[in-house]
Amino acid sequence: MTASHDPLVQLNDVRIERGGRAILRDVSLSVPRGSITAVLGPSGSGKSTLLAALTGELRPAAGSITLFGQPIPTGSSALREMRRSVGVLLQGNGLLTDLTVAENVALPLRTHTRLPMPVLRRLVDMKLHAVGLLAAADAWPRELSGGMARRVALARALALDPPLMIYDEPLTGLDPIASGVIMSLIQRLNHSLGLTSIIVSHHVHETLPICDQVIAIANGGVVFQGTPAALEASDDPLLRQFLHGQPDGPIPFDAAPRAKVA
Ligand SMILES: Nc1ncnc2c1ncn2[C@@H]1O[C@H](COP(=O)(O)OP(=O)(O)OP(=O)(O)O)[C@@H](O)[C@H]1O
Ligand SMILES: [Mg+2]
Repeated sequence: MTASHDPLVQLNDVRIERGGRAILRDVSLSVPRGSITAVLGPSGSGKSTLLAALTGELRPAAGSITLFGQPIPTGSSALREMRRSVGVLLQGNGLLTDLTVAENVALPLRTHTRLPMPVLRRLVDMKLHAVGLLAAADAWPRELSGGMARRVALARALALDPPLMIYDEPLTGLDPIASGVIMSLIQRLNHSLGLTSIIVSHHVHETLPICDQVIAIANGGVVFQGTPAALEASDDPLLRQFLHGQPDGPIPFDAAPRAKVA
């Protein structure tokens, strides 16, 4: 890891809207190079919305976002180029069912590079090896367990060697053992490949142990940024409610406005 103190991701006073409604306001945060950052927050708080802003899918209505020290490009080819540097693992694995495991992992390489077949095959093998699934190269997605499919999706997200990895709910639908495998894989890849990782998760107890900093989102903004230890030590009722999964507290159980029942 290079000794650079420039953050890899920086947001200053960002406001993000969806459908004309502000989802996140006054968001200022930074993600240090080489770190693992967890973004925690209740359902509907805007975690995926924040990720969409980082990949340039959503433009902030106010404020600035820089990635790799540069503003997110506006031109489509520059944006495409930037996105090559960001590996995204979405909640659904998004594996194509009529392609083998190896073909799925090869997909980004085929789309973005013109590598000869033997080189491509070797790169795919390296990525599958990194997630412990080299033996499954010729399997079909339907033959995989949920945890294996998630690891194939992870190998595919890593295919272009992106320095920034973004994971949106990487544990959804996985049992505790598969969850542990995915989390330790995320941690190992981050450190061995010198990546920077952002993990959105509501699996607080699985995520905190592997991350360097936590950003908590609630009530339309960032309510905490600090180390996991500082979060655990906080006596802020809102943070405690979220950390301990209590149903009642400052975060309303159902934030959506409901019609009055007579
Ligand atoms: N495409 C969209 N158009 C308009 N509003 C949207 C859109 N997507 C999400 N929203 C709204 O933005 C808010 C934040 O949604 P978001 O998906 O970012 O939440 P989240 O924190 O990722 O939730 P979850 O934990 O359930 O994934 C919600 O109120 C949601 O209804
Ligand atoms: Mg989400």
